[in-house]
Amino acid sequence: MVTTRFEALKAWDFGMAECSGPTLMPMQVLGIESSCDETGVALVAYEATSSDFSESRKPLQSPQIPRLLGHALHSQVAMHRDYGGVVPELASRDHIQRVIPLVRSVLDQSKTKLESIDVVAYTRGPGLAGALLVGASLAQGLALALNRPVLGVHHLEGHLLSPFLSEQRPQFPFVALLVSGGHTQLMAVQSVGHYECLGESIDDAAGEAFDKTAKLMGLDYPGGAALSRLAQGGDPAAFAFPRPLLHSGDLNFSFAGLKTAVWTQIRKLGESAVDHGPDLAASTQAAIVEVLVRKSMMALDQTGMKRLVVAGGVGANAKLREQLAKACAQYGVALHFPELSWCTDNGAMIALAAAMRLQAEVASLERPGAFDVKPRWPLTAKE
Ligand code: KG4
Ligand code: ZN
Repeated sequence: MVTTRFEALKAWDFGMAECSGPTLMPMQVLGIESSCDETGVALVAYEATSSDFSESRKPLQSPQIPRLLGHALHSQVAMHRDYGGVVPELASRDHIQRVIPLVRSVLDQSKTKLESIDVVAYTRGPGLAGALLVGASLAQGLALALNRPVLGVHHLEGHLLSPFLSEQRPQFPFVALLVSGGHTQLMAVQSVGHYECLGESIDDAAGEAFDKTAKLMGLDYPGGAALSRLAQGGDPAAFAFPRPLLHSGDLNFSFAGLKTAVWTQIRKLGESAVDHGPDLAASTQAAIVEVLVRKSMMALDQTGMKRLVVAGGVGANAKLREQLAKACAQYGVALHFPELSWCTDNGAMIALAAAMRLQAEVASLERPGAFDVKPRWPLTAKE
């Protein structure tokens, strides 16, 4: 007879096989994110509908969205700023120092004991190998000590499902525009774990385009938010920067040429470039945003889907949000964004993605032990 939540998890036979069994069991999932320059930890729970102890061990009545019990984050942005970008070795060392205090802080916030954690989830990839190894090692160590299963999560799936952390949750199916620092992708999302890549960047991602052009304008790393602030006082039509692949007929993106065009314009302006900062920023942002909006509308058209979900750091961009809201209203399409704090990297999206995968029965729990990380890992790849 199953007497604890963990025994229920064990009953799933978390060997190498796909999970099957009581996936709607109340459970708490710890998530650890350490793929790049943010250390994030969070705890989510599927809770019993009754507070009666005997009831709390019974399967849940219906699928739920897990509740966020606590989260903590440390950003390394200030540390990397002097170098103009992320220094991988410094990132790994900082994750090592930060991650355990963050776990403690999450447990305190959630008023939860370590022993109450049922599954330890971590970002398995993609990202910086050394940085990923820190989160993966802690997750494996914790799980081993607690005799709990682990679950490696795809970082982009965390972003993709992050709008479910908001009050206004999307419904499946939807088109997802994933715009993180290293990835720009349009995905057709049927349900948890069922994703089809409709198009992606063939060179620089939109986030890289923001960061690299911001650097050319003398702005600090990471440049996206700074460029967007500078653009507020500028004219988006001041410079006619290219809209790469806008008419390519497919849903791929290419932003490397834009960076070259901005650099050429800055050199042409010479010393007066400084006075044109806001116009340069506004025109660059307009080019990136127009391509993202137009291709998102094409993806909706192509799939016939009626919902667009935007996720990843560039999803915090105010102009992108404004232009997408306009276009979606015109097309009669529902638009979902994660809250600003969930756009950039965080532990909540990793805990949430792990819990949602378990409930949807598309995840394989593993025994802690030998493990790897996947610095390069396409979201649509078979694990
Ligand atoms: O998703 P994320 O936190 O990290 C990755 O998984 O890569 O995204 C970081 C990216 C950076 O390129 C950053 O410049 C960009 O998101 N970003 C922005 C804004 N806030 C963050 N880009 C444009 N406008 C913003 N407000
Ligand atoms: Zn990310």
